[in-house]
Amino acid sequence: MKKIILDCDPGHDDMLAIILALSSKELEVLGITTVAGNQTGEKTYINALRVLNLIGRTDVKVSRGFDKPILRDLVTAPQIHGVSGLDGANLPEPKGNATNKHAVDFIIETVMNSDEKIHLVPTGPLTNIAVSLLKEPKIKDKIEKIVLMGGAFHDSNFTPGAEFNIYVDPEAAKIVFESGIPIVMVGLDVTNRALLTFEDIDYIESLNGHVSRVIAPLLRFFGKANNEFFGFDGAPIHDALAVSYLIDPTILTLKHLHVDIETKGEFTRGQTVVDFYNVLKKEPNAYVALDLNLPKFKTLMIEAIKYFDEK
Ligand code: BDR
Ligand code: CA
Repeated sequence: MKKIILDCDPGHDDMLAIILALSSKELEVLGITTVAGNQTGEKTYINALRVLNLIGRTDVKVSRGFDKPILRDLVTAPQIHGVSGLDGANLPEPKGNATNKHAVDFIIETVMNSDEKIHLVPTGPLTNIAVSLLKEPKIKDKIEKIVLMGGAFHDSNFTPGAEFNIYVDPEAAKIVFESGIPIVMVGLDVTNRALLTFEDIDYIESLNGHVSRVIAPLLRFFGKANNEFFGFDGAPIHDALAVSYLIDPTILTLKHLHVDIETKGEFTRGQTVVDFYNVLKKEPNAYVALDLNLPKFKTLMIEAIKYFDEK
């Protein structure tokens, strides 16, 4: 069983990342930390607590983190996730096991107190992770891997040059990518293809369980936004794909490459510059996801929803 901390900004696909992680027998979720990104710090924190209440896992520890990036003003994505960050359905009240610790302190204490190495799974801007590394560099030796949703080799979504999570806090991303900790970069090249189509969403609705009934309209909202902006036939479940890799590593095809983070570019703020041909001769610092097994991912995701429907 892998021990993980999920650092997220729910967010529709973050919600499915939480559901997938908590449904798996392969993973032990030591806690959920939240960060500002898709919406404000307050909203993403409340959304995490609402999701945990929906699936009956109010025992899971939740710690709220940063309300803004390290240096920049916060940028949110209401055009994709709505004003609440989880528009499309009524979620239950926020309820859960709030630690009342800052996410950074929770991450540091949990990692330092664990006898086994821990996987960090960030699915939002990397602010909490970067500041944890700055505050207590000793955690590096106790982190097995950082499996993050962010960046891209060819693809982009927030600007023509960048993916949202890295764009929002590029300085944090630079700190994380330069940390020396093994990184798995699950970027848009694969996550834009991790689609639950509108047909899949109808199927989820037909399950008619207490969780699928809420998830289906949420995914339809998210799918419609993605259809409007990117022409997708459904909802790209970016963040859950990162979690799925820890459950079944054969879902992704990875290549060990050097990735630099653009923090200064006029048009390319937050770009993950992937040295595919190794022209720089720098040490690789990230396992970059280049391909995915979509049927395997979909099966895992649907099974996770059914698991909580039956609880
Ligand atoms: C990422 O940005 C957010 O909108 C999603 O939750 C995902 O983490 C995709 O670029
Ligand atoms: Ca996210």
